[in-house]
Amino acid sequence: MSTSNKTKHEPTVLLGVTGCIAAYKACELLRSLQKSGARVKVVMTPMAAEFVTPATFKALSGEEVAIAPIDDPARPIHHISLAEEADVFVIAPATANTINKLANGVADNLLTTTALATEAPLIIAPAMNVHMWRDEVTQESMDRLYERGAVIVEPESGYLACGDVGEGRLAAIEDIAQATLAELSRSRDMEGKSLLITAGPTREHLDPARFLSNPSSGKTGYLIAEEAARRGARIALVSGPTDLKDPFGCSVVRVTSAEEMLEAAEQAFAELEPDAAVFTAAVADFRPLERSQQKLKKGDRGRETTLQLVANPDIMATLAADKGLTYVVGFAAETQDVIEAAAAKLETKNADMIVANDVSDPTLGFASAHNRWHFVSKDGVESTEILHKRTLAGLLVDRIAEAT
Ligand code: C5P
Repeated sequence: MSTSNKTKHEPTVLLGVTGCIAAYKACELLRSLQKSGARVKVVMTPMAAEFVTPATFKALSGEEVAIAPIDDPARPIHHISLAEEADVFVIAPATANTINKLANGVADNLLTTTALATEAPLIIAPAMNVHMWRDEVTQESMDRLYERGAVIVEPESGYLACGDVGEGRLAAIEDIAQATLAELSRSRDMEGKSLLITAGPTREHLDPARFLSNPSSGKTGYLIAEEAARRGARIALVSGPTDLKDPFGCSVVRVTSAEEMLEAAEQAFAELEPDAAVFTAAVADFRPLERSQQKLKKGDRGRETTLQLVANPDIMATLAADKGLTYVVGFAAETQDVIEAAAAKLETKNADMIVANDVSDPTLGFASAHNRWHFVSKDGVESTEILHKRTLAGLLVDRIAEAT
């Protein structure tokens, strides 16, 4: 039970700024959050003040900037008052130093002490050198923070301030702002509901060392699972092989082939009787007719060979055929006549909604963090802007919450 006696105030974002070159970008984030109607208070680490002066943040926010443990005589226990005032706490940029401290509960400055004291959702946007980001200690800390419920706005790849090229650049300001605002307005509208989600590619083995597959990262399904779980849903995620961590708050079954995915999805469907089933998996359409138990030898088949394939089961169509009251959502990645193809799939797959997207643009879709979706249902078509996949996941869950 919370013992907080927080008084009513306008939605408050506490913006934590730590010491790195990207600290100046926090000014832009502050502005973006204000434009969306949030009150923003800034808390800085002493090192951050070496990069951007507190006076800049004070002028932009119109609020005192918190930096030293007792710098407001009216509030001698400053970390507690800040912690209670925050509706969300976004740390952007978050350095490796601060991330590693947060993961271990170290509270040695006003920012880290406030992070330990607050019950507000925590959003972390890391920014650092690629080697510091990839360091095992940093990655372990990120895992721990994520497992405890922090929202992570992943850094991007590109040129870094130190001259290196790689992952570690602060995510786009608009993406951090969107993730922050989503937490600020997060509802529990999926409480008591359950979702089955399929995600990722499948692998169809020819032999123990070789398989047919596709480049699906699984990100879309994982983000939908995480978003719905944060809004209170019970989630069964059936996932093909991916590099992604189990999404926060979800039960995950990992499988390899389409046949295994079908079996796991059927079992989850029977156990959960889900309110909605969302099929994001990029299931391989075919598998080799035969799977060799031993690695096939190069020399065995001469210079030309034929691989016989057999069609895989359609997981979505199989489950949707007998869906009862479950709201069924499928995906359609197309390169032409995107909407028409999706509308046709509504019928052939017995779906309630098809989320269509155009994969002809190489900057969107498969490997990108951004996309544009068209929600196609019997009620018509709704098209989104180009948005971060996390935001798109939120829009889809809005629609599922309404429909179930
Ligand atoms: O027919 P198509 O593969 O374009 O349909 C895509 C939709 O069907 C996606 O939602 C995908 O997850 C689902 N699907 C499936 N099992 C398959 C093929 C597609 O569940 N074997």
